[in-house]
Amino acid sequence: MNLFSFIKERISILDVVNEYVTLKRAGGYHKGTCPFHHEKTASFTVSPDKQIFYCFGCHISGDVISFIAKIENCSQKDAAHLLTEKYSIELPSTLSFESSEISTEQKNHYFAICKAVALWCHEQLLKNPPAQSYFQRRGFGSEHFNYFTLGYFPSGNAGISDLLYAMKRQSILPRDLVEAQILAEGRTTLYSPFEERLIFPIKDALGRYCGFGGRTFKEHDTRPKYYNSRENEYFIKGSLLFNLDKAKKSIQETNTIFLVEGYTDCMAMTQQGFFNTVATLGTACTVEHLKQLARYAEHIFVVYDSDNAGKMAVLRLTELCWQVNLELKVIMLPAGEDPASFLLSNKGDFRTLIASAEDIFHYFLNTLGNNFTSKPLGQKLQTTRAFLNVIAHIPDPLKKDILLQKAAKTFDIPFQSLKQELAGIPEKISTAEQKHHPDPKAVAAPTEETISLLEKRIFCAIMNNMGLFSGEGRCRLIRYIQPPLQDILAQLKELKEKSGNITFGSFFDTLNERDRQYVSKLLLEEDEIVDPTAFDKLLGQLQKKQWKSIVQTIKTQLTRAQQEGDADKEALILRDFMELQSKFTASHHD
Ligand code: CTP
Ligand code: MN
Repeated sequence: MNLFSFIKERISILDVVNEYVTLKRAGGYHKGTCPFHHEKTASFTVSPDKQIFYCFGCHISGDVISFIAKIENCSQKDAAHLLTEKYSIELPSTLSFESSEISTEQKNHYFAICKAVALWCHEQLLKNPPAQSYFQRRGFGSEHFNYFTLGYFPSGNAGISDLLYAMKRQSILPRDLVEAQILAEGRTTLYSPFEERLIFPIKDALGRYCGFGGRTFKEHDTRPKYYNSRENEYFIKGSLLFNLDKAKKSIQETNTIFLVEGYTDCMAMTQQGFFNTVATLGTACTVEHLKQLARYAEHIFVVYDSDNAGKMAVLRLTELCWQVNLELKVIMLPAGEDPASFLLSNKGDFRTLIASAEDIFHYFLNTLGNNFTSKPLGQKLQTTRAFLNVIAHIPDPLKKDILLQKAAKTFDIPFQSLKQELAGIPEKISTAEQKHHPDPKAVAAPTEETISLLEKRIFCAIMNNMGLFSGEGRCRLIRYIQPPLQDILAQLKELKEKSGNITFGSFFDTLNERDRQYVSKLLLEEDEIVDPTAFDKLLGQLQKKQWKSIVQTIKTQLTRAQQEGDADKEALILRDFMELQSKFTASHHD
């Protein structure tokens, strides 16, 4: 165990934070006003279970030691020192401050461990024909094995002991491998989550090995496709990019970057001569990523999967990209393709796609404008505002005007009206962000403009008090909430059924990166505390709003049941309907 974990295990984060912030209990966590940015609402959240804090306002987060380091403006080491003194923690002789400093030496040791493991895995790949032939089937040969230092992590005790033996010769101990999260301690033996996976070593921009992606490759392997190294202080997914170290040179030469979502996509691009390709590590592209890339080139082509998730990711990226001086274009792949599958299957000429790539803002507009004329008025307004809200931040006024011109056509709204609306935006729209964040760059979360305020309030009430989401009647209502909120609530429902009472923090932990950002953003917009009575009122309002469609659905269901001659089902539907109706009228009256 290291010094920091030793200290953290002996202190309660609540005690420490309470010295600086008045915290109030809210469900499984504690809230208060954030000491790191100015705010009136309580966005600062502490999870005593997780021993971490997170501010939904300024997105600052960390553990008890980084809390002290930030608030006292000192190093982590000084913070740890302060804490041991204040809470009279006796350190065992094996752990002392001198040896525990997160020094360059320690950092280099971590990189050295990762490198040794990467090279060992590489050797294993060269000894393992099935792993090699998987790569070969996908068009990657030995020059790619070398270029990316691809590897294979064998399974079982034999593999682990071989690794331990090889590491020992380089003075790397089993404990080092456990601390670097390459091995884990089982009840009696050491094992690795990377076992029986193909290994994609990940390096930082300076080419230092700092983490791994591990992919399953056997037909009957039912585990998740990828296992990526967990984040630690040297491996931060929000700022690392796969292949950046190697791509840098070509990026600078061409002044262009290709951004893809997967390791294999990146390899396929490289194989086709696009050496200037980088990939995110299974998480969304962040402003941090973009800023880093902006240091090397001015043009980025985004080449994401053509599925819905890929499209959504592009829309979210649009909301970030005004913050950097980069020109982003979107390359559209044919349906069902990702860059790897497209490039390796001769389905078409990639260079033609490059030539017809669309500016990301135009892509955004076209996506929003899809079927626009047939939308109801309310949705038209929302969509238009969503668009204006994003382009409002574009620093180049001419570019803004060109986009407005195009939007005027797409939305069939006079240019001047759009322009006028746009002029009012900085103060008017995205107020939630501005109120809470003097620095708009701190916000990197998506917005889904089609979701009504009412749905958001209901959703946030649940996030703020998971207890509200219980009982059949209430749970049934998620039907009337739009995705992605509906999907997130469905996940919550499932989790609750599996593990009973759960806290926000533990639920939050299970969400993927996109949903996490989404939830944090919403919670920050809507942080009213809603009691059960008020909550039921909100649900009543939702029902009222959805009443017409509810009645319609029930009618269809009834007709179907009648046609099928299923009297029981008919009765059931009717009973449901009556129940809904009585609730509806109840909420209608107050
Ligand atoms: N990813 C992950 N966990 C998963 C699936 C994906 O972390 N269960 C991450 C990986 O970093 C992966 C990226 O998301 O590279 C893109 O996912 P996907 O398109 O599914 O994977 P590819 O890299 O394209 O892999 P392949 O083509 O081999 O299926
Ligand atoms: Mn893919």
